[in-house]
Amino acid sequence: MNTKPIIACENIVKTYHNAGVDTAVLKGVSFSVAAGEFVAIMGPSGSGKSTLMHIIGALDTPSSGTYYLDGSDVSRLTDDELADIRREKIGFVFQAFNLLPRATVLRNVSLPLVYAGVAKEERERIAERALIDSAFPQAFWQHHSNQLSGGMMQRVAIARSLVNDPALILADEPTGNLDTKTGEIVLHTFQSLNTGHGKTVVLITHEPYVAEHADRIIHIRDGAILTDEKNPRRRIARGES
Ligand SMILES: Nc1ncnc2c1ncn2[C@@H]1O[C@H](COP(=O)(O)OP(=O)(O)O)[C@@H](O)[C@H]1O
Ligand SMILES: [Mg+2]
Repeated sequence: MNTKPIIACENIVKTYHNAGVDTAVLKGVSFSVAAGEFVAIMGPSGSGKSTLMHIIGALDTPSSGTYYLDGSDVSRLTDDELADIRREKIGFVFQAFNLLPRATVLRNVSLPLVYAGVAKEERERIAERALIDSAFPQAFWQHHSNQLSGGMMQRVAIARSLVNDPALILADEPTGNLDTKTGEIVLHTFQSLNTGHGKTVVLITHEPYVAEHADRIIHIRDGAILTDEKNPRRRIARGES
Protein backbone atom coordinates (compact mmCIF):
# COMPACT_ATOMS: atom_id res chain seq x y z
CA MET A 1 0.00 0.00 0.00
CA ASN A 2 1.12 3.54 -0.76
CA THR A 3 1.81 5.14 2.61
CA LYS A 4 2.14 8.77 1.57
CA PRO A 5 -0.45 10.60 3.68
CA ILE A 6 -3.48 12.05 1.94
CA ILE A 7 -4.40 13.85 5.15
CA ALA A 8 -1.86 15.17 7.66
CA CYS A 9 -3.36 17.31 10.45
CA GLU A 10 -0.96 18.81 12.96
CA ASN A 11 -2.38 20.38 16.09
CA ILE A 12 -5.51 21.76 14.43
CA VAL A 13 -7.35 24.33 16.52
CA LYS A 14 -10.65 25.93 15.51
CA THR A 15 -12.14 28.69 17.59
CA TYR A 16 -15.28 30.61 16.66
CA HIS A 17 -15.70 34.21 17.74
CA ASN A 18 -19.31 35.32 18.06
CA ALA A 19 -20.46 38.53 19.76
CA GLY A 20 -17.29 38.75 21.82
CA VAL A 21 -17.49 35.10 22.91
CA ASP A 22 -14.80 32.60 21.90
CA THR A 23 -15.88 28.98 21.48
CA ALA A 24 -13.05 26.47 21.13
CA VAL A 25 -14.47 23.69 18.94
CA LEU A 26 -11.29 21.82 17.92
CA LYS A 27 -8.59 21.82 20.58
CA GLY A 28 -5.43 20.51 18.96
CA VAL A 29 -6.27 17.62 16.63
CA SER A 30 -3.41 15.64 15.05
CA PHE A 31 -3.74 12.57 12.85
CA SER A 32 -2.87 11.40 9.38
CA VAL A 33 -4.52 9.15 6.84
CA ALA A 34 -2.54 7.18 4.28
CA ALA A 35 -3.64 6.60 0.70
CA GLY A 36 -5.98 3.61 0.53
CA GLU A 37 -7.22 3.74 4.12
CA PHE A 38 -10.89 3.59 5.18
CA VAL A 39 -11.20 5.63 8.38
CA ALA A 40 -14.25 6.49 10.46
CA ILE A 41 -14.29 9.62 12.60
CA MET A 42 -16.83 8.99 15.32
CA GLY A 43 -18.14 11.13 18.13
CA PRO A 44 -21.36 12.34 19.70
CA SER A 45 -23.34 15.25 18.36
CA GLY A 46 -21.51 18.53 19.05
CA SER A 47 -18.08 16.89 19.38
CA GLY A 48 -16.68 18.83 16.41
CA LYS A 49 -16.99 16.26 13.60
CA SER A 50 -18.47 18.58 11.00
CA THR A 51 -16.05 21.35 11.94
CA LEU A 52 -13.18 18.91 11.38
CA MET A 53 -14.78 17.69 8.15
CA HIS A 54 -14.95 21.27 6.87
CA ILE A 55 -11.23 21.66 7.49
CA ILE A 56 -10.15 18.35 5.98
CA GLY A 57 -12.53 18.99 3.07
CA ALA A 58 -10.86 22.39 2.45
CA LEU A 59 -14.19 24.13 3.04
CA ASP A 60 -12.68 26.10 5.91
CA THR A 61 -9.25 26.78 7.42
CA PRO A 62 -8.06 26.17 10.99
CA SER A 63 -7.48 28.99 13.50
CA SER A 64 -4.04 27.48 14.08
CA GLY A 65 -2.19 24.31 13.24
CA THR A 66 -1.26 22.91 9.85
CA TYR A 67 -3.14 20.77 7.38
CA TYR A 68 -1.48 19.03 4.46
CA LEU A 69 -3.87 17.60 1.89
CA ASP A 70 -2.16 15.20 -0.51
CA GLY A 71 1.18 16.89 0.19
CA SER A 72 0.11 20.56 -0.09
CA ASP A 73 -0.27 22.90 2.86
CA VAL A 74 -3.89 24.06 2.54
CA SER A 75 -4.23 25.59 6.00
CA ARG A 76 -3.58 29.17 4.86
CA LEU A 77 -5.21 29.28 1.42
CA THR A 78 -7.73 31.84 0.17
CA ASP A 79 -11.31 30.84 -0.58
CA ASP A 80 -10.60 30.64 -4.33
CA GLU A 81 -7.54 28.48 -3.80
CA LEU A 82 -9.54 26.20 -1.50
CA ALA A 83 -12.21 25.84 -4.18
CA ASP A 84 -9.59 24.73 -6.71
CA ILE A 85 -8.11 22.19 -4.29
CA ARG A 86 -11.55 20.77 -3.49
CA ARG A 87 -12.38 20.33 -7.16
CA GLU A 88 -9.09 18.57 -7.73
CA LYS A 89 -8.78 16.35 -4.68
CA ILE A 90 -12.05 15.69 -2.87
CA GLY A 91 -15.33 13.91 -3.46
CA PHE A 92 -18.02 14.92 -0.97
CA VAL A 93 -21.01 12.93 0.25
CA PHE A 94 -23.38 14.55 2.73
CA GLN A 95 -26.32 13.37 4.83
CA ALA A 96 -28.72 15.17 2.47
CA PHE A 97 -28.18 13.79 -1.01
CA ASN A 98 -28.32 17.22 -2.72
CA LEU A 99 -29.51 15.89 -6.09
CA LEU A 100 -31.49 17.73 -8.75
CA PRO A 101 -34.87 15.99 -8.33
CA ARG A 102 -36.09 16.24 -11.92
CA ALA A 103 -32.80 15.42 -13.61
CA THR A 104 -31.83 11.87 -14.52
CA VAL A 105 -29.29 9.84 -12.59
CA LEU A 106 -26.74 10.26 -15.40
CA ARG A 107 -27.31 14.01 -15.49
CA ASN A 108 -26.90 14.31 -11.72
CA VAL A 109 -23.66 12.38 -11.76
CA SER A 110 -22.19 14.36 -14.64
CA LEU A 111 -23.24 17.78 -13.34
CA PRO A 112 -19.92 18.65 -11.60
CA LEU A 113 -18.24 18.08 -14.97
CA VAL A 114 -20.59 20.58 -16.62
CA TYR A 115 -19.33 23.20 -14.16
CA ALA A 116 -15.75 22.06 -14.84
CA GLY A 117 -16.27 22.68 -18.58
CA VAL A 118 -15.81 19.07 -19.71
CA ALA A 119 -17.24 18.25 -23.16
CA LYS A 120 -20.48 16.27 -23.37
CA GLU A 121 -19.22 12.90 -24.66
CA GLU A 122 -16.40 12.94 -22.14
CA ARG A 123 -18.85 13.80 -19.33
CA GLU A 124 -21.05 10.87 -20.22
CA ARG A 125 -18.12 8.49 -20.38
CA ILE A 126 -16.85 9.59 -16.95
CA ALA A 127 -20.32 9.53 -15.37
CA GLU A 128 -20.98 6.02 -16.70
CA ARG A 129 -17.65 4.84 -15.32
CA ALA A 130 -18.48 6.34 -11.89
CA LEU A 131 -21.87 4.59 -11.89
CA ILE A 132 -20.26 1.29 -12.87
CA ASP A 133 -17.52 1.65 -10.23
CA SER A 134 -20.15 2.27 -7.57
CA ALA A 135 -22.20 -0.72 -8.83
CA PHE A 136 -25.25 1.42 -9.51
CA PRO A 137 -27.76 -0.65 -11.53
CA GLN A 138 -27.89 0.46 -15.15
CA ALA A 139 -31.66 -0.05 -15.29
CA PHE A 140 -31.99 3.16 -13.23
CA TRP A 141 -29.54 5.43 -15.07
CA GLN A 142 -32.32 7.21 -16.96
CA HIS A 143 -34.64 7.51 -13.96
CA HIS A 144 -35.20 10.92 -12.47
CA SER A 145 -33.62 11.11 -9.05
CA ASN A 146 -37.00 11.83 -7.40
CA GLN A 147 -38.17 8.39 -8.60
CA LEU A 148 -35.54 6.66 -6.47
CA SER A 149 -35.45 5.40 -2.88
CA GLY A 150 -33.25 7.24 -0.36
CA GLY A 151 -30.56 4.56 -0.53
CA MET A 152 -30.43 4.77 -4.31
CA MET A 153 -30.26 8.57 -4.10
CA GLN A 154 -27.27 8.36 -1.80
CA ARG A 155 -25.59 5.97 -4.23
CA VAL A 156 -26.11 8.52 -7.00
CA ALA A 157 -24.42 11.08 -4.73
CA ILE A 158 -21.53 8.65 -4.18
CA ALA A 159 -21.12 8.13 -7.94
CA ARG A 160 -21.20 11.91 -8.40
CA SER A 161 -18.42 12.27 -5.80
CA LEU A 162 -16.15 10.14 -8.03
CA VAL A 163 -16.28 12.11 -11.28
CA ASN A 164 -13.30 14.35 -10.51
CA ASP A 165 -11.24 11.22 -9.67
CA PRO A 166 -10.66 12.48 -6.11
CA ALA A 167 -7.75 11.41 -3.93
CA LEU A 168 -10.18 11.40 -1.00
CA ILE A 169 -13.88 10.61 -0.52
CA LEU A 170 -15.22 12.50 2.47
CA ALA A 171 -18.66 11.49 3.77
CA ASP A 172 -20.43 13.34 6.62
CA GLU A 173 -23.18 11.17 8.18
CA PRO A 174 -23.96 9.55 4.80
CA THR A 175 -26.37 7.04 6.35
CA GLY A 176 -28.02 9.56 8.67
CA ASN A 177 -31.25 9.69 6.65
CA LEU A 178 -31.40 5.97 5.90
CA ASP A 179 -32.76 2.91 7.69
CA THR A 180 -30.24 0.28 8.78
CA LYS A 181 -30.73 -2.06 5.82
CA THR A 182 -30.44 0.71 3.22
CA GLY A 183 -27.53 2.20 5.13
CA GLU A 184 -25.75 -1.16 4.81
CA ILE A 185 -25.98 -0.97 1.02
CA VAL A 186 -24.47 2.50 1.08
CA LEU A 187 -21.68 1.32 3.42
CA HIS A 188 -21.10 -1.62 1.09
CA THR A 189 -20.62 0.85 -1.76
CA PHE A 190 -17.92 2.70 0.22
CA GLN A 191 -16.24 -0.58 1.18
CA SER A 192 -16.07 -1.79 -2.40
CA LEU A 193 -14.77 1.57 -3.66
CA ASN A 194 -12.07 1.27 -1.00
CA THR A 195 -11.08 -2.37 -1.44
CA GLY A 196 -11.89 -2.76 -5.14
CA HIS A 197 -10.82 0.65 -6.44
CA GLY A 198 -8.26 1.78 -3.85
CA LYS A 199 -10.20 4.92 -2.91
CA THR A 200 -9.33 6.57 0.39
CA VAL A 201 -12.51 7.03 2.42
CA VAL A 202 -13.11 9.15 5.52
CA LEU A 203 -16.53 8.49 6.99
CA ILE A 204 -17.94 10.76 9.70
CA THR A 205 -20.65 9.37 11.95
CA HIS A 206 -22.08 9.48 15.47
CA GLU A 207 -23.13 5.81 15.28
CA PRO A 208 -20.71 3.12 16.52
CA TYR A 209 -22.43 0.58 14.30
CA VAL A 210 -21.64 2.63 11.18
CA ALA A 211 -18.04 3.31 12.27
CA GLU A 212 -17.45 -0.44 12.70
CA HIS A 213 -17.48 -0.75 8.88
CA ALA A 214 -14.15 1.12 8.67
CA ASP A 215 -10.63 -0.33 9.08
CA ARG A 216 -9.68 2.33 11.61
CA ILE A 217 -11.80 4.34 14.04
CA ILE A 218 -10.88 7.75 15.43
CA HIS A 219 -13.05 8.75 18.40
CA ILE A 220 -13.45 12.43 19.02
CA ARG A 221 -15.12 14.13 21.96
CA ASP A 222 -15.25 17.80 22.93
CA GLY A 223 -12.97 18.71 20.03
CA ALA A 224 -10.13 16.33 20.84
CA ILE A 225 -9.13 12.82 19.76
CA LEU A 226 -9.83 10.26 22.49
CA THR A 227 -8.63 7.14 20.70
CA ASP A 228 -7.32 6.28 17.24
CA GLU A 229 -7.27 2.54 16.64
CA LYS A 230 -7.27 -0.12 13.96
CA ASN A 231 -10.54 -2.02 13.75
CA PRO A 232 -9.48 -5.65 13.34
CA ARG A 233 -13.07 -6.89 13.32
CA ARG A 234 -14.36 -4.64 10.58
CA ARG A 235 -18.02 -5.29 9.88
CA ILE A 236 -18.68 -6.34 6.29
CA ALA A 237 -21.67 -4.47 4.91
CA ARG A 238 -24.34 -6.39 3.05
CA GLY A 239 -24.73 -5.33 -0.55
CA GLU A 240 -27.69 -6.23 -2.68
CA SER A 241 -28.36 -9.90 -3.11
N1 LIG B 1 -20.05 28.88 13.45
C1 LIG B 1 -20.06 28.46 14.73
N2 LIG B 1 -20.00 29.35 15.74
C2 LIG B 1 -20.01 28.94 17.04
N3 LIG B 1 -20.06 27.66 17.43
C3 LIG B 1 -20.11 26.73 16.45
C4 LIG B 1 -20.12 27.06 15.06
N4 LIG B 1 -20.18 25.92 14.34
C5 LIG B 1 -20.22 24.92 15.24
N5 LIG B 1 -20.19 25.39 16.50
C6 LIG B 1 -20.21 24.61 17.73
O1 LIG B 1 -19.16 23.70 17.69
C7 LIG B 1 -19.52 22.46 18.29
C8 LIG B 1 -19.25 21.33 17.33
O2 LIG B 1 -20.10 21.44 16.20
P1 LIG B 1 -20.02 20.42 14.98
O3 LIG B 1 -18.66 20.44 14.42
O4 LIG B 1 -21.14 20.72 14.06
O5 LIG B 1 -20.26 19.04 15.74
P2 LIG B 1 -20.79 17.61 15.21
O6 LIG B 1 -20.73 17.58 13.73
O7 LIG B 1 -19.90 16.63 15.88
O8 LIG B 1 -22.20 17.49 15.72
C9 LIG B 1 -20.98 22.58 18.69
O9 LIG B 1 -21.05 22.87 20.06
C10 LIG B 1 -21.45 23.74 17.86
O10 LIG B 1 -22.48 24.43 18.52
MG1 LIG C 1 -22.13 17.17 12.22
